[in-house]
Amino acid sequence: MSSGIIIVGAGLSGLSAAVTCAGAGMKVLLFSNAASERAASVMAEGGINGALDTMGEGDTVKLHYEETLKSGRYIADKEAVSDLTEAAPDIITWLSSLGVPFNRENGRIVQRFFGGQSKRRAAYVRSGTGKALMTALIDEARRFEVMGRIERFLPWQYEDLITDETGGRCLGVKMYSVCHNEHKKFYGPVIMCSGGLGGFFSGITTGSTLNDGSAAASLFSRGVRFSNLEMMQYHPTTVKIAGKRLLVTEAARGEGGRLYVTRKNTQYYFMEDRYPERGNLMPRDVVSREIARVHDEQISLGEDEWVYLDLTRLPAEVIEKNLSELKSEMVRYLGIDPATTPIPVSPGIHYFMGGIDCDRLHRTNISGLYAAGECTSLYHGANRLGGNSLLGAIYGGRRAAKTVALEYDGTLYENVKEKTTSDSDMTAENDSEFAAALSDILCDGLSIIRSSDGLLNAISRLEELCATAPQNSVSYKRAIFGEAMLRSALLRQESRGAHYRSDYPKENETLAKRTVASCEDGVLSVGYADDNGNEAAL
Ligand code: FUM
Repeated sequence: MSSGIIIVGAGLSGLSAAVTCAGAGMKVLLFSNAASERAASVMAEGGINGALDTMGEGDTVKLHYEETLKSGRYIADKEAVSDLTEAAPDIITWLSSLGVPFNRENGRIVQRFFGGQSKRRAAYVRSGTGKALMTALIDEARRFEVMGRIERFLPWQYEDLITDETGGRCLGVKMYSVCHNEHKKFYGPVIMCSGGLGGFFSGITTGSTLNDGSAAASLFSRGVRFSNLEMMQYHPTTVKIAGKRLLVTEAARGEGGRLYVTRKNTQYYFMEDRYPERGNLMPRDVVSREIARVHDEQISLGEDEWVYLDLTRLPAEVIEKNLSELKSEMVRYLGIDPATTPIPVSPGIHYFMGGIDCDRLHRTNISGLYAAGECTSLYHGANRLGGNSLLGAIYGGRRAAKTVALEYDGTLYENVKEKTTSDSDMTAENDSEFAAALSDILCDGLSIIRSSDGLLNAISRLEELCATAPQNSVSYKRAIFGEAMLRSALLRQESRGAHYRSDYPKENETLAKRTVASCEDGVLSVGYADDNGNEAAL
């Protein structure tokens, strides 16, 4: 029987939690189903936010805080956002001390514009920031591995939570070793860092499709509460490549890239026309909807339907020094040199603002179970600012680890009396045809523009699909989780951030609160959190 602090997921939040626990002298068991180099964090390109004000524009933590809340349309956790934005400048300094080669000028870190932000706040490493941060954290974790404080388990898949007899206290996890075909139990507090839900939307996501949502679905079936599941971010500029979407970083627009369509043989810069103040750098939800709208308009006018991102007027050195990865990816996968040819782009699913419902200290509704990174719902509300995901992952992992250090009581895991689903009532079956049908239903129901009819239709297709899967299968649990996403979107009868309803096109002030979803004994409930933040099931 192995014990220690259990971390499930070894992307940026998992590594951050692991090095923080190990640095505080705790023993860490770090599990992941793939190498850290395959985590979605590697694909984050444009930068990490922090009010360092290296550009001398008068940026402040307060402004970063306000713009994060505003972009999230006021349903993110205010206190958590305050902690996050306060910690951001030190996090960038710490990353620099680990050797992250941030772009610099005369020795000082350079910062760039991102959508929805009034100051240049994102520190960056060309257009490969996520990769550079992950390299530094992988090295740091390796240092603790050599000291014996972090033990890596790779590739191991999450299977189930181990709880006490009441189901209210987490005692550990049941994991599956892919190489050895072995199921094994591990005991200790658990920090879930299992990432986003890209695998539910295969084909149209920039995220890692290795995150197929089975961990989230399994947790949900065990009574873990989730919130804001309707809040998914469409990134405005992605390109389709074999089975997924490739991100065309927002930094391209931060550096001066412009979106246009061709109308009557001239270039129509629709963002600049409609939003003269911020133009191409409006928040992502607005840009994505505008791209969808102008695309439909082009079709009805009989014009070229494609929306293009034009970088051809950027100085060559900006592309070479600040956007070099973007350039090489476009050349490699599309055969386009963005310095001379505009890139045809369309929105793709990029990030999940909703997830495991946590308090400011990253505790879930099950004691002994913590969560951090994209699998949680805390910092980003209805729409995340570009540059806040890498920050949220590092800060969240660190904060969760600190909470575990404060609450850790090793005696709880001695002579445990546990309650897990026994092997005989679990089936690991996750049928690929079922998964594809589920993905189609969710993509249709949870498109950029939603409606009651579309959501109800998706729910009824989902119910038919569910009837074809055994109730204790992975497929079934994923479908129930999908239903919770659809029902959260149906419940929110307004448009807020990334959630746009054609039948309720306005934001409704009285709904500035999070939706919460839970599943007790197989019964799904979705409601709004009440004013005290507690669940109020409808
Ligand atoms: O566009 C981007 O580079 C994405 C960054 C982010 O989502 O934070």
